Amino acid sequence: MATTDLPRKAKMPDRRVSVPRAELISAETNANSVTELREAAQGCRRCPLWRNATQTVFGGGPDNAKVIFVGEQPGDQEDLAGKPFVGPAGKVLDAILDDAGVDRQKVYVTNAVKHFKFEPRGKRRIHSKPNAGEVQACRWWLDKEFELIKPNLAVALGATAALSLLGKATPVMKMRGQVIEREDGLRVFITIHPSFVLRIREAADKEAERERFLRDMREVKRLMAA
Ligand code: URA
Repeated sequence: MATTDLPRKAKMPDRRVSVPRAELISAETNANSVTELREAAQGCRRCPLWRNATQTVFGGGPDNAKVIFVGEQPGDQEDLAGKPFVGPAGKVLDAILDDAGVDRQKVYVTNAVKHFKFEPRGKRRIHSKPNAGEVQACRWWLDKEFELIKPNLAVALGATAALSLLGKATPVMKMRGQVIEREDGLRVFITIHPSFVLRIREAADKEAERERFLRDMREVKRLMAA
């Protein structure tokens, strides 16, 4: 498993919570609310990504949400804030949800991987894609979020989310807009990650992709009611 073992001086101030292993395991297994689960996740050591991240960034939103949006992993701003999708990709997501008439306050938003994985470059921390082992290790938390919230729809924002939710590599560009029903009955809607819109430089292409993403979110709104 590829990991980032950084010298301590390259890290942000250490705000991590130290949780003894025995306590962690019982908190993990006994958590029967999202709040308890979120607290337990602060001490997660299931993969090495906790070492360089500031904190676990757990999901947020109502505990009884009908839909869970799943992203890839927290970015730089999310790592510092401790909340998912508060940075540039989150702004794109917020704006599109607003345009599609989906109330962000009514949806639960989380990530496939709950620690920021990055490479330091000078003073900057550059996003580094989580590998399959890290996605698998963090799937434990995602499954628990689904178990407790019991949504009737999941939205996979990009390939890492689709890998985690479906357990296999999924060609997102080919399958976007489709719903895959899992064996447990959960409907998984496939779409792009909002950062894909951010990365497009040419204005007309960016606008066209934004429109496609908006169309996907309108379909999510329809599915939420179905
Ligand atoms: N990208 C993600 O996938 N998740 C976040 O929380 C932020 C950016």
